[in-house]
Amino acid sequence: MTNPTARAQIGVTGLAVMGSNIARNFARHGYTVALHNRSVAKTDALLAEHSGDGDFVRTETIAELIAALEKPRRVLIMVKAGDATDAVIEELAAAMEPGDIIIDGGNALYTDTIRREAALRERGLNFVGAGISGGEEGALNGPSIMPGGPAESYESLGPLLESIAAQVDGTPCCTHIGPDGSGHFVKMVHNGIEYADMQLIGEAYHLFRDALGFDAKQIADVFTQWNTGDLESYLVEITAEVLNQVDAKTGKALVDVIVDAAEQKGTGRWTVKSALDLGIPVTGIAEAVFARAISGSRAQRKAAQGLASGTLADKPTDAETFTEDIRRALYASKVIAYAQGFDQIAAGSAEYGWNLTPGDLARIWRGGCIIRARFLNRITEAYDENPELPSLILAPYFRDAIETGIDSWRRVVATAIQLGIPVPAFGSSLSYYDALRAERLPAALTQGQRDFFGAHTYERTDADGKFHTLWSGDRSEVSA
Ligand code: 6PG
Repeated sequence: MTNPTARAQIGVTGLAVMGSNIARNFARHGYTVALHNRSVAKTDALLAEHSGDGDFVRTETIAELIAALEKPRRVLIMVKAGDATDAVIEELAAAMEPGDIIIDGGNALYTDTIRREAALRERGLNFVGAGISGGEEGALNGPSIMPGGPAESYESLGPLLESIAAQVDGTPCCTHIGPDGSGHFVKMVHNGIEYADMQLIGEAYHLFRDALGFDAKQIADVFTQWNTGDLESYLVEITAEVLNQVDAKTGKALVDVIVDAAEQKGTGRWTVKSALDLGIPVTGIAEAVFARAISGSRAQRKAAQGLASGTLADKPTDAETFTEDIRRALYASKVIAYAQGFDQIAAGSAEYGWNLTPGDLARIWRGGCIIRARFLNRITEAYDENPELPSLILAPYFRDAIETGIDSWRRVVATAIQLGIPVPAFGSSLSYYDALRAERLPAALTQGQRDFFGAHTYERTDADGKFHTLWSGDRSEVSA
């Protein structure tokens, strides 16, 4: 006999803004949603304000939550990533039965997700680490969802997630990513790219402000204009809105009143740490993380005020041409950030045996998420055409975009340096590009030095094998 109260298709525990918006999204799509929060007040607040969104079941305890769900039970955890996640998982797992599904929708570290999935699999439970992007608004109206975990669990869970996800051209921005921690890994790299994209936009803004002397409103107009072309994206769109915002207290542009020290919750830093372990140069993302750290080094920055700039060049006089240069530099650098992010995903996939499909990721990032952008269609096309693409910058469309913009890109970086304006992301992306296309890098010298002081050996251009030279003796060479 079925339990008459077990009627909810999905349970959500953790009803802060993201959790309650996702719960409402499920309800608006016709699902019965069991609600649970550690303090019942949040559950009641949601019900008081939004019961019109659909069918909710109010529960006060984990036992009630479990009892309210049809089988296999599906419970989405939306708590702050970390110890709280382990605590909730343990409570749920103790009350669940084999075949039930626990979904972690927080920004968990993917190695935690690998650990949790393995432990729950032992107990017969399905654990799905799902990256969810789109902020509060996306959670309510359609996020991009990156669920990992066992493929079997996606059969029962996928249709629910796909129906609440953003839709682009009739395709949901949600797909099964791959086993265990792959969903959270991909979400982590998404956030890394988000950091790089934001930093590049920030550098463009800095150039407009300090090289061209534009005010916030003028810069907002440029971004509004850019949002009608190749750079069309959520981040460019909101940049214009942020720059247009007037401070109610002072009447100034709000951006001019906000302290210039950026914070971070950690996903960008995780991306860089993982890239270091995988040996993947995500230089744009790393510079973005460090740029936030520099901005936050307030005491040092204060102490360094007044340090000499050296002789600076004249500012550009042709604002229109320089604006177009910045646009092209931004586009080219953005392509580099994505190329590096996709390299990291490929390396993670190989390291953990996930078998990820890059084209699918670009497809589910076209809508809902923070890095959604017009050019993601081009990334999908590039990988559909050649799944083995060695680098995104080699796809004909992106190669052409970079080669068209290269002179502008160099002018922007050179001008910024001559004006004393920091452009770590523009500059490192250009150096990355130049390094990749260089016929011969200085690494031969590095190898010589390593062999000199540590007998680490080197390879030769004209013979196979490893070699070692007796550097300070008779300079003879021996096979290692
Ligand atoms: C998203 C965002 C989201 C969150 C960032 C903010 O995809 O919806 O990335 O996950 O806003 O984690 O990160 P920082 O606080 O590190 O900037």
